[in-house]
Amino acid sequence: MVREWDPRTASSAEIGSVLDTLNAVLAADLPQDPPWREDSLREYLSEVMPGERRISWVAEDDPPAGGGHGTILGHVHVLLLGDIGVLEVLVHPAVRRSGLGRELVRTAARRVYQEGFQSIGVEVVGDTPAIGFYSSLGFTREYVETRSVLDLGTVDWTALTEMAAGVDPGYHLEFYPGGPSDDLIEAYARAKAEVRDVDDGELRPSSYDPQRLRDSLDTLHRRGMKPYIVLALQERTGTVAGLTEVVVPVQHPTRADQYDTIVVRDHQGYGIDRAIKARMLLELRSAEPELTEVQTWNAQANEAMLKVNAELGYQADRDWCEYSVDVAELVHRLDAQR
Ligand SMILES: CC(C)(COP(=O)(O)OP(=O)(O)OC[C@H]1O[C@@H](n2cnc3c(N)ncnc32)[C@H](O)[C@@H]1OP(=O)(O)O)[C@@H](O)C(=O)NCCC(=O)NCCS
Repeated sequence: MVREWDPRTASSAEIGSVLDTLNAVLAADLPQDPPWREDSLREYLSEVMPGERRISWVAEDDPPAGGGHGTILGHVHVLLLGDIGVLEVLVHPAVRRSGLGRELVRTAARRVYQEGFQSIGVEVVGDTPAIGFYSSLGFTREYVETRSVLDLGTVDWTALTEMAAGVDPGYHLEFYPGGPSDDLIEAYARAKAEVRDVDDGELRPSSYDPQRLRDSLDTLHRRGMKPYIVLALQERTGTVAGLTEVVVPVQHPTRADQYDTIVVRDHQGYGIDRAIKARMLLELRSAEPELTEVQTWNAQANEAMLKVNAELGYQADRDWCEYSVDVAELVHRLDAQR
């Protein structure tokens, strides 16, 4: 049975059941990824940016004879933002290939259609059943990135310390656990605006205006995801010349996510990208003692970033794709397949 589900009011048993399915999915599809923990999972599933909405459904097996809910074996949610619905679907490996995934997509797609949205996007991990699944539903690939993972156990910390110090003397680096201080937000947002072109086509929106940036940092905190920032500041002007962002989610604190790294065009060629990334890893080593890995996503065309990542020891792991489909076409196709 598929029913609409609100993680904010769900019982702890239901949250635990979603977690079990998520971890079974990870064990089957991405066995090298760390299992998730229950810490702030409810908030992770319910908190959104201002102006966005997330609608969720679960599929469960038969409820126990004495009443109550069954075990959750499938979960779908759609995040409504701009004119697109971003979909996430999970089906427990024990019940795959029985049409449940398609049923969950049908339920979500109908709602997205009723809400007047044009298209649905989804992140699809290379070399997993999701590729065949979304292709069978008429989704097409829009964009592909490479996920790379750095095992901190392989890092040469002495070389990294030299890299962090290797920035041109016209600049200095600053570390901000929790996010940039409020007086730096405007300069930070200006620097982030530079990646707009690079990020075009990505589902993960970048934050460029100061209020959106504040909202985005606040949302991260509410979802249990702790941001860390290293900034490169130009000595002479105080301008933000470069920044790098890492988020440590409380749901999987052994593996952090590297978000944007940006060097503002006028400040390129001064060793800033290497230095800020190296400094970040040095800081994380003491700030997050549980951390053992960092993962990052890069466009395959971004050769400069891939080169720096390779120097730091990142190993390419998987293709990470964005697929999309026209909502009306999807609803039509799914209804015709019934
Ligand atoms: C992708 C996923 C949702 C599919 O769920 P499912 O219930 O097995 O899918 P369905 O049974 O509805 O399959 C519908 C159609 O999709 C296609 N399909 C599904 N799995 C497939 C596979 N492994 N290979 C090829 N095609 C596949 C088939 O055409 C299938 O129809 P058929 O069984 O009649 O041939 C499920 O595998 C899953 O949860 N994957 C993890 C997704 C994810 O987001 N992971 C993130 C971390 S890895």
